Amino acid sequence: MTSEPVSPDPIVVVTAVVHAYGGKPALRGVDLRLHPGEIYALLGPNGAGKTTLIRAICGRIRPDGGTVLLKGRDPARVPAARAGLGLVPQEIALYPNLTVAENIETFAALADVPRAGLAAAVRRALELTRTVDRAHVPVKHLSGGYKRRANIAAAIVHEPSLLILDEPTVGVDLDAREAVDSVIRGLRDLGVAVLMTTHDLDQAGALADRVGFLRDGQLVLEGRPRALIAEAFGERMEIQVRLAEEIDAAGESRLAAEGLERTGRPTVWTRLDADGYAAAGRLDKRLRQAGLTPREIRVREPSLANLFTLVADRKLAA
Ligand SMILES: Nc1ncnc2c1ncn2[C@@H]1O[C@H](COP(=O)(O)OP(=O)(O)O)[C@@H](O)[C@H]1O
Ligand SMILES: [Mg+2]
Repeated sequence: MTSEPVSPDPIVVVTAVVHAYGGKPALRGVDLRLHPGEIYALLGPNGAGKTTLIRAICGRIRPDGGTVLLKGRDPARVPAARAGLGLVPQEIALYPNLTVAENIETFAALADVPRAGLAAAVRRALELTRTVDRAHVPVKHLSGGYKRRANIAAAIVHEPSLLILDEPTVGVDLDAREAVDSVIRGLRDLGVAVLMTTHDLDQAGALADRVGFLRDGQLVLEGRPRALIAEAFGERMEIQVRLAEEIDAAGESRLAAEGLERTGRPTVWTRLDADGYAAAGRLDKRLRQAGLTPREIRVREPSLANLFTLVADRKLAA
């Protein structure tokens, strides 16, 4: 049962943030708020400004204009404001020869966790990330998924109220990814505000309470995934055609003539249609007549990936 919660005070308030590197704008006026107990996924193509925004929120850069406040304090000017923040960088940042528990202890010391509470803090971090069974294994012997979770454990040992993860599932296989997602959900449910960047739109759609699309340094679309999808696509369904093999240029123009667009995979093409199943049947027939053999045609509700394509191609929120 989820009723619409009354938003508590935001932990992060980003207002009109502008930043440029050597005169080249990377952020052009970004507003963003993040509340306790929500997962926010920052999406956008390479170079959109995601990492720059994260650096500004962490106080690692001082933006050229606008303000960043963490619980009311500017992290670039007030170092204590950063104490409430945990950062999980994209690259695993652990000592490979130390065990998971030793790594967490090391990070706890860096974060000024009092010695008296150290053992309990390490235990809690191990439990929350479900790494207890690997506590005494050197990090270099861990699988990718355990390494990622150990990295999260190191970032949360000081009980931050804001957790930032940059691409938490890069290089993590599907099963392990679900374990990472479930750890992130668990932290959210404890009231932690989670800000993550990801290229994995399926993950964002499944995990995030809100998503924001960053394009050329501007947040061009923001909201709850379901609501954004419904608003953008209405009744339209996605028709996805998977071909038996890669096709030549003539085949490609035939598919384009049917309104199909290529996806990231050369044998998978896609199109939106309000007349989903009936249109898929007609399409199947015509493609076969043209000598193209669909291996599979799927009709499904549009996803965040479809929405992302519209935004990236400037067909939405221009
Ligand atoms: N340290 C830097 N020096 C100069 N330009 C940078 C630096 N970091 C990022 N940029 C530029 O700023 C823009 C935004 O980059 P970034 O924030 O890394 O985007 P994203 O994380 O979305 O890929 C890009 O054009 C990038 O080339
Ligand atoms: Mg980046």
